[in-house]
Amino acid sequence: MSAEQVRYLLPEDAIPTHWVNLLPDLPGDPLPPLNPGTMQPAGPDDLTPIFPMSLIGQEVSMDAEVEIPEPVREAYALWRPSPLYRARRLERELDTPARIYYKYEGVSPAGSHKPNSAVAQAYANREAGIERLVTETGAGQWGSALAFACGLFGLECLVYMVGASYDQKPYRRAMMETWGASVIRSPSDTTEAGRSQASHPTGSLGIAISEAVEVAAGDANANYALGSVLNHVCLHQTVIGQEAIAQLELAGDVPDVVVGCVGGGSNFAGLAFPFVREVLRGNAKMRFVAAEPAACPTLTRGAYRYDFGDTVGLTPLMPMYTLGHDFVPPPVHAGGLRYHGDAPMLCGLVKHGVVEPRAYKQNETFAAAVRFARAEGIVPGPEPAHAIRATFEEAEAAREAGEERVILLGLSGHGHFDMSAYQAYLAGELEDPEFSERDMQEALERLPDAPAIA
Ligand SMILES: Cc1ncc(COP(=O)(O)O)c(C=O)c1O
Repeated sequence: MSAEQVRYLLPEDAIPTHWVNLLPDLPGDPLPPLNPGTMQPAGPDDLTPIFPMSLIGQEVSMDAEVEIPEPVREAYALWRPSPLYRARRLERELDTPARIYYKYEGVSPAGSHKPNSAVAQAYANREAGIERLVTETGAGQWGSALAFACGLFGLECLVYMVGASYDQKPYRRAMMETWGASVIRSPSDTTEAGRSQASHPTGSLGIAISEAVEVAAGDANANYALGSVLNHVCLHQTVIGQEAIAQLELAGDVPDVVVGCVGGGSNFAGLAFPFVREVLRGNAKMRFVAAEPAACPTLTRGAYRYDFGDTVGLTPLMPMYTLGHDFVPPPVHAGGLRYHGDAPMLCGLVKHGVVEPRAYKQNETFAAAVRFARAEGIVPGPEPAHAIRATFEEAEAAREAGEERVILLGLSGHGHFDMSAYQAYLAGELEDPEFSERDMQEALERLPDAPAIA
């Protein structure tokens, strides 16, 4: 039986006790965020209007490990440790000598990896005496996760949902409301930021972030919660990779390549960073592949510059690959990947050649997702479908090289709320929008006048 094992499961007491902080191991000196008014390094005072002190501490911590509070571990036990699968049927379908494993985060209540950080953030804010969290959501995954987490810790939750997703996914909204959250379509007329962007009715993550930050900054009892990009969000997600290391040990394998999708970088960071740390410390050798949409190709086509995290320019500037803070990506169905920037930690790793980015078009990712679903059963979210597409390339390369490579794929969530996208794909109605050179030139011209990154 063991030779044909498919699921590698860990007991509840194997939920990690610490998060892995990659910041002290990253190549080069950490680049600080900048105050949007002065363009000087931002300090804790710039962040206290919207974040609790404990999360600000995690954002800048140089400790290699950060203890997970016990109430957060108890909440994690509702779905963690998540399963690691050996994709035996997919391997046969692809006729590859590669051994493909996937770490599946779709078992969480919200259906993705996002609750790993939502629970940690809701707990930290409750401990700081905050009564309400305000946030944005793209695909609806982060909003659902925060709605669920706020319910666990007795907080109110207000979600600005990107217009395109609000229209495509009415049941995501119903799910958030079921957990007690209020949901507003973005851009909205409830904020100045929203009113200023009324000419972009499909919205974007950048616009929704501006709306949420504006509301949180104006209410002393409210804070803002971000579902990706920031160091502390990447930190919270590292339970994924730590569990995967233990599960691969059960399987007797070590990855040659780790593959994930990137919207703001949090699920990729969560899976990859515990492995990246071993590579940076010289204890292991492996490759890392980050998959993104050709319609919003931040890591493959963006400029490595300081830019705002939101459209209107309310947030500190972060050093990252960016398509320009006011770039509104076309409304592709991988709503969670429609973000103009990416996590500074991940961008640094791309800059240093540790992580290789690749961009894929919408139809080829859905083709891969359908093939995956027919082989493995799970219907993937359109976001991890990009990582599945990259995994197919890796499996093919292993076949061409005649090598038994080990591939670890991050399957960050299921696609049960994305069936209208599958329907459109199966009917041959999906478009393949791509980012043009003109888009890039226009975006570069609008980047803020911030110091260059050395
Ligand atoms: C299932 C899923 N995967 C990936 C992402 C992309 O976000 P990140 O890069 O922060 O993991 C999202 C975002 O909403 C998502 O819902």
